[in-house]
Amino acid sequence: MIFIDACFKKPTPTAPVWLMRQAGRYLSEYRATRAKANGFIDFCRRSDLAAEATLQPIEILGVDAAIIFSDILVVPLEMGMRVEFAEKVGPVLPDPIKTQDDIDRLANDCADRLEYVYDALKIVRGALAPDKALIGFAGSPWTLATYMIEGGGSKTYATAKKMAYSAPDLLHKLLRKLSDAIGDYLLRQIDAGANAVQIFDSWGGALEKSAFFEFSWHYMKRIAKRVKSERAHIPVILFSKGAGGYLEAIDGDFDVFGVDWNTPIERAKSVLFDRYALQGNMEPARLYSKAAIEAGACDIARVMGKENGYIFNLGHGMQPDFSSENAKFLVDFVHETFAR
Ligand code: CP3
Repeated sequence: MIFIDACFKKPTPTAPVWLMRQAGRYLSEYRATRAKANGFIDFCRRSDLAAEATLQPIEILGVDAAIIFSDILVVPLEMGMRVEFAEKVGPVLPDPIKTQDDIDRLANDCADRLEYVYDALKIVRGALAPDKALIGFAGSPWTLATYMIEGGGSKTYATAKKMAYSAPDLLHKLLRKLSDAIGDYLLRQIDAGANAVQIFDSWGGALEKSAFFEFSWHYMKRIAKRVKSERAHIPVILFSKGAGGYLEAIDGDFDVFGVDWNTPIERAKSVLFDRYALQGNMEPARLYSKAAIEAGACDIARVMGKENGYIFNLGHGMQPDFSSENAKFLVDFVHETFAR
């Protein structure tokens, strides 16, 4: 699998490529699969449908890795929180975490309740070509905590930050509990067939430097260390959106650093590439134009083109209004441009 080889900095015939949020509404095939489910959470719980959505980008785009179709919010859901996906509103958690009691009530056995994700992984691994990798994932403790404390998405993260600065011990209790659950969950995903795992820290960049390391990176590292100590042959990818200003202080036992689109790739290369493989980081909005795709991929190729240990990706996720034709054009263009 060229994706796994690149994670371990082994030589590959070209750069492997996959796209964050590659299974999604920009694909008409995804929308057709989603229509068979009774809402988004039912979609996540239906292993057969989740497997179908996972395989679509492999068939349609020709990417080198599939990422299991699910959502980061199945963890709070299976910890016992109410989670709703309202059309055009995004996720809503109507009973947010406020107190120690709320944290104590969260189930410790959420990894046991996520059997439907493991079933989907088994179906996908059985159906995937042997040269295509399967990626498992989870949200980071901090990113999940923001949804659980804010009760949904947020622009300011005011409630989660209020807890960070006025009741840090309470937030740390929640983050520890989430870290244990996420560690269990990722190990179970690996045992069900995931060949690599990625932790999505979508809102790490909402934190100032000291708070980022205290409340987010510390827990990402802790989970990565546990996975690496128990499953050393599985690459661990850490992606923190907005951590580009903090690269000098990045450390830990993991394999691949996910570079977001705000971070110049040459800076990530000079600071981190001696210790980690790199994944990223084309600005997703370039998907709107083939000329912009070519220019963006060529810019990255000038820096990473001949390097072992580089995985092409976007610097954040696919958007619902992107065109699948342009996504396929990108995948083909990367395979050609990065060929050794
Ligand atoms: O990458 C993949 O293709 C795998 C699937 C995947 C989904 N969500 C499916 C999904 C992954 C990896 C995620 C991760 C996720 N979910 C993140 C981290 C990644 C990032 O982009 O930073 C976050 C923050 C979430 C939380 C979440 N889930 C939001 C904010 C939304 C609403 C988005 C919207 O535009 O409505 C979701 C729902 C969701 N998760 C969709 C998909 C395909 C769209 C829901 C639908 O089909 O109606």
